[in-house]
Amino acid sequence: MSKLTVISGKSSESLAKELSKKIKANFVKSEIKVFPDGESKITLIGKISKKKSIVLQSISPLVDTNLVHVLSLITKAKENSSEVVAVIPYMGYARQDREFLPGEIVTMKVLGKLFKSAGASKIIVVDIHSSIGLKHFSIKTKNVTAIPDLVGFFKKLSLKNPLIVSPDQGGKERAKEFAKEFNSDYISLEKTRDRKTGKVKIKTKNLEEVKNRDLILVDDIISTGGSIIKATQFLKKQKCRRIYVACTHALLMNDAEKKIKKAGVTSIISTNTIPGKTSKVDISKTIAKAIM
Ligand code: R5P
Repeated sequence: MSKLTVISGKSSESLAKELSKKIKANFVKSEIKVFPDGESKITLIGKISKKKSIVLQSISPLVDTNLVHVLSLITKAKENSSEVVAVIPYMGYARQDREFLPGEIVTMKVLGKLFKSAGASKIIVVDIHSSIGLKHFSIKTKNVTAIPDLVGFFKKLSLKNPLIVSPDQGGKERAKEFAKEFNSDYISLEKTRDRKTGKVKIKTKNLEEVKNRDLILVDDIISTGGSIIKATQFLKKQKCRRIYVACTHALLMNDAEKKIKKAGVTSIISTNTIPGKTSKVDISKTIAKAIM
């Protein structure tokens, strides 16, 4: 038996399997039974190493259910292994990292306490929304980026005079990093979001430099699609050529994908932190490097 075990949550099974192959670890999967009242009963299938366990699960929808699952997996792992590392490719709640409006609870602070008390000694995440989120954790943290993996995909496409675009100022550094790796230039738009309704607006006015160029809109998360749709509508008015979207975590809630395509996006490419139709980029190698 290997000295390493990968314990997989239900939301990340194929990524966990890939990871276990890459780091030569035993693979342990979860079987879930949901009771009529919504409670989950989790049973682990496989043997857990005494030395080190990696618990892998994204906190993707159903967010609160997956959160309870991952904390349960860590607790069980810690009963068997002396070291437990939590790999949370998509960190749900990462956008609730500060008090935007008075009275709001900073849920990332709560998560910081829960992961520690469950028994994780380290947490690894992929492209966390903002570095502020991990400041609420007192255990070791590591944020790895999927940008080189996403860029690898886009390098295989033949694009006309490509330009990297961030839909907002918060994503400027991400766009810069993507552009550096892709060997192109970048810009970032100005976006505002109403903190109560969640509605977004693009404040940027005219943009000559996008005219007749293929664009890659880069974002960390697509949830409702609002940010990408508004940016696309604006960029189309500026007479750009095709618009591609590169994002790490494609939540694509409700019919977001359909709405984004309708707005004029040629293709959405995401990673398998959240498995789905758009998750064409595998990040298991990047996670494996972060663990070894
Ligand atoms: C915001 O700052 C994030 O980077 C994403 O742009 C945002 O969370 C995406 O959400 P939505 O798709 O609902 O606009």
